[in-house]
Amino acid sequence: MQPAGLFITFEGIDGAGKSTHIAALAEAFRAAGRNLTLTREPGGTPLAEKLREMVLNDAMDPLCEALLMFAARRDHLQQVIEPALARGDVVLCDRFTDATFAYQGGGRGFDLNVLQQLEQWVQVRADTGQLRQPDLTVWFDLPPDVAARRLAGARVPDRFETQPEAFFRRVAEGYGSRLKQDPARFVRVPSDQSKEAVWRAVRAAFEQRGWLQVTEVRA
Ligand code: TYD
Repeated sequence: MQPAGLFITFEGIDGAGKSTHIAALAEAFRAAGRNLTLTREPGGTPLAEKLREMVLNDAMDPLCEALLMFAARRDHLQQVIEPALARGDVVLCDRFTDATFAYQGGGRGFDLNVLQQLEQWVQVRADTGQLRQPDLTVWFDLPPDVAARRLAGARVPDRFETQPEAFFRRVAEGYGSRLKQDPARFVRVPSDQSKEAVWRAVRAAFEQRGWLQVTEVRA
């Protein structure tokens, strides 16, 4: 029998260290014999990657920014995420709608009601009428001053990475509010600790849900 699809998203402020752990989880799911779709937002389809280029680099007003994020998301859901879930894949997606609430809502201060309406427009499924949400969202929670130190000197920054620390404090609060609204969907991983400790916490969240096998047996 085909396993049920799993939709997992990864969130956190820039510099929180998502990429390493997404790669490690991909490896763990592959080793468990699961088919994987590894993807990211904004992006994940040819059209959405073009929109990503614009939204990360071109100046625009917050409504434009929010609309482009959701436009990219719509294409991504229809072309990649929904078909992958229907096939029974594990979909590991680097950022999703919580990022829009955190960055455009929290960071930019854009109207959360408008974002909620856009979320409905873009994510309500034609087949069930239900809102598509991740099965689990891993939030790498890192204090903004630590993230700023980690990012300093790293590659050419985009329009978000150049924001001041106060912006990222609001983004982090934005993630906190999303977690409060739907705590069962989130696992919050305190990320100001060693990579190994963060990985153990991430892995444990998947083991607890029976999605990966327990690897370490403690005496
Ligand atoms: P990120 O995921 O950090 O990719 P990379 O590791 O290549 O830098 O970059 C995406 C940026 O886009 C990040 O700064 C957050 C921002 N973003 C939003 O502002 N809103 C959104 O809805 C999404 C998905 C991302």
